Amino acid sequence: MGKSGKKPKESHRHGRGHRASQFGDEDLPSSAYDAPPPRPEDSDDDDSNEAAAEGEDEGDAEAGDQGQWQVGPMPSKFHLYQLSVQSPKGDISYLQKFFLMYVGGRVPLHLQEDFCGTALLSTEWLRTDARRTAIGLDFDRESLEWCLDNNMSKIGADGYSRMLLFDGNVLQPNESRLVKQKISDLMQGLNTTNDNGSTEICDQSESAIPKCLANSTMADAVLPGRDVICAFNYSCCCLHRRKDLVLYFRHAFSALSKRGGIFVMDLYGGTSSECKLRLQRRFPSFTYFWEQEEFDIITRETRISLHFQVGKKQMLRHAFTYHWRLWSIPEIKDCLEEAGFKSIHVWVREMPDTQSSGNAKEYTADRDVKYEELQHFNQGDAWNAYVVGVANI
Ligand SMILES: C[S@@+](CC[C@H](N)C(=O)[O-])C[C@H]1O[C@@H](n2cnc3c(N)ncnc32)[C@H](O)[C@@H]1O
Repeated sequence: MGKSGKKPKESHRHGRGHRASQFGDEDLPSSAYDAPPPRPEDSDDDDSNEAAAEGEDEGDAEAGDQGQWQVGPMPSKFHLYQLSVQSPKGDISYLQKFFLMYVGGRVPLHLQEDFCGTALLSTEWLRTDARRTAIGLDFDRESLEWCLDNNMSKIGADGYSRMLLFDGNVLQPNESRLVKQKISDLMQGLNTTNDNGSTEICDQSESAIPKCLANSTMADAVLPGRDVICAFNYSCCCLHRRKDLVLYFRHAFSALSKRGGIFVMDLYGGTSSECKLRLQRRFPSFTYFWEQEEFDIITRETRISLHFQVGKKQMLRHAFTYHWRLWSIPEIKDCLEEAGFKSIHVWVREMPDTQSSGNAKEYTADRDVKYEELQHFNQGDAWNAYVVGVANI
């Protein structure tokens, strides 16, 4: 997670770099370990924090889009997660950059977000280009339904028509089932099966209209070959066995467009990732904690919990707990190769020293340290990486 200075007037993050201006805007990618900074409009000064805290302690806060809420109940853990962990515009900029570098020749339109959770990245993907489509896959129904109610509801009927969420295991994607889209009532005229009884996203002017029926499986659906498949926030670490990792990568490989596509995942590491650690980042109305509770050197399994403190007293402990196997970059590269990816690229960003200000302290990441494609990188205290697998034509 990112660790900010006390008054992070500048955008900064721990690890995932400030995206270079050549990528077109100021947004940065993010991850649970590398929280995005409070947005510029979230003035994170002590006074505003105190004011928000008082309101929340009375149990009358309601989260706004920018992380400040004035009235209403404790915000949803998903809302807190999205505000503190995710920064989808930055991730999308990197996805575009990687696609153009390693595939090229066309604009990437079709995204699959595996381990999508609340599929914030997918909804942002749709928002910025009307030709884009997105498929989200996760086995946590609660996250998917929260996405429908809170993320997809903001992108309107056009967005709905270009996005499908599937509930299922990434190891058996074809058996995953379409999550009912509540807006389907608005689109009854469009929701039909095709002649052979299967369901499809049909390509009309390069944008997709879903014709899937609720509960269809992914195997039933006729989906466009994906230009980009991503698995972010260290989600591949949810898979503990090598054979599962290879199987998952094979599924990703076969879902990519035959015209070429990329699979992109992220990893974190460094000496600090193998010990107990508690980091925090303050936002105007809450504080986010990343806690590494254990790390087993024999299995390389780690337990990470995310906590949130809202106001002065309300603590949402273990809002999310992950049991991860912390894969190394060479292990990931080997598995990607075994799954069929022809070339693999590693982009690394060094992160600030987690020990410099002690556990449970905030620190300031250097927003000028960017991701670089590297062949070698000496171990340090903390790093983040993107691993890009390219499926060539
Ligand atoms: C660390 S969260 C990442 C969520 C989101 N991708 C993000 O960037 O914040 C991991 C997600 O993977 C999902 N997950 C874990 N194992 C899975 C599996 N085998 N199949 C499908 N989803 C899985 C969990 O339900 C959870 O939503």
